[in-house]
Amino acid sequence: MTDLPPRVRKAVVPAAGLGTRFLPATKATPKEMLPIVDKPAIQYVVEEAAAAGLADVLVVTGRGKRAVEDHFDRNTELEAALAARGDLARLDLVRASADLAAVHYVRQGVPRGLGDAVLCAAPHVGDEPFAVLLGDDLVDPAEPLLDAMMRLREEFGGSVLALADVGPREIGRYGCAAVEPVRDGVVRVTDLVEKPEPGRAPSTLAVIGRYVLDPAVFDVLAKTGPGRGGEIQLTDALRTLARDPGTGGPVHAVVFTGRRYDTGDCGEYLRAVVQFACRRDDVGPAFRRWLREFAASAAAA
Ligand code: G1P
Repeated sequence: MTDLPPRVRKAVVPAAGLGTRFLPATKATPKEMLPIVDKPAIQYVVEEAAAAGLADVLVVTGRGKRAVEDHFDRNTELEAALAARGDLARLDLVRASADLAAVHYVRQGVPRGLGDAVLCAAPHVGDEPFAVLLGDDLVDPAEPLLDAMMRLREEFGGSVLALADVGPREIGRYGCAAVEPVRDGVVRVTDLVEKPEPGRAPSTLAVIGRYVLDPAVFDVLAKTGPGRGGEIQLTDALRTLARDPGTGGPVHAVVFTGRRYDTGDCGEYLRAVVQFACRRDDVGPAFRRWLREFAASAAAA
């Protein structure tokens, strides 16, 4: 009998960043709690994990992130008030975020970078493959990206990334991959560089914030020194895995062509809010009418 590769059951959501790009909003509010329409950004990410069957979610938090914990917990006072008013629709909404998944927390004491945040998850994850979802990256809920990545992990073992072609002007904002084709939409990653200098990028394929990782990454992370920005970079550990598959590789990737929003960027955040609002059944129709008129008057001006 052949051993089936262990199934991915756990998701890790790093949420310890300072959110400096959204000051002053993030002075006293975690950036993960900024709403996309009326739902905090991090809830979309936890919903995505739950929809992919990952019912165990570990959020890596830090100082000032208590609102995240409260959001995924019950709020009995609020629930009682809504129930007393007979506002069952809102009662469901308030309960839903507490029922999405078993959400756990670990604190990253010092913000030493994404690689260090992922390493904080090691005791919870143990020796099994796991997913990492970055809250700054929103993927269209209609796109089954994580499913495709988990299938690739079952096929090849090792770790699986998601790449998107962002063009030469944007690539310096991301981890960048050198790849070899495998088949349509699937590549093998041969090298990685975190936020390459202009002209130094091996491709225009950017690492977007979804990862399915082999637990071997923890040993590599523990030995990875500070990289770009003086931080422990997840990209650097994945580079070791990609270049030397004996350390726990290989690394493959899905080339993602669906919609995604890098909500860590103010302009993209606004676009995400507008597009999610347009798609909503409740506020969508009136908002789309207003948007058409607004765009027409802006064009005329
Ligand atoms: C992180 C990663 C980077 C990746 C990006 C995706 O960067 O380090 O490799 O491309 O997320 O959003 P950050 O956005 O935290 O600077």
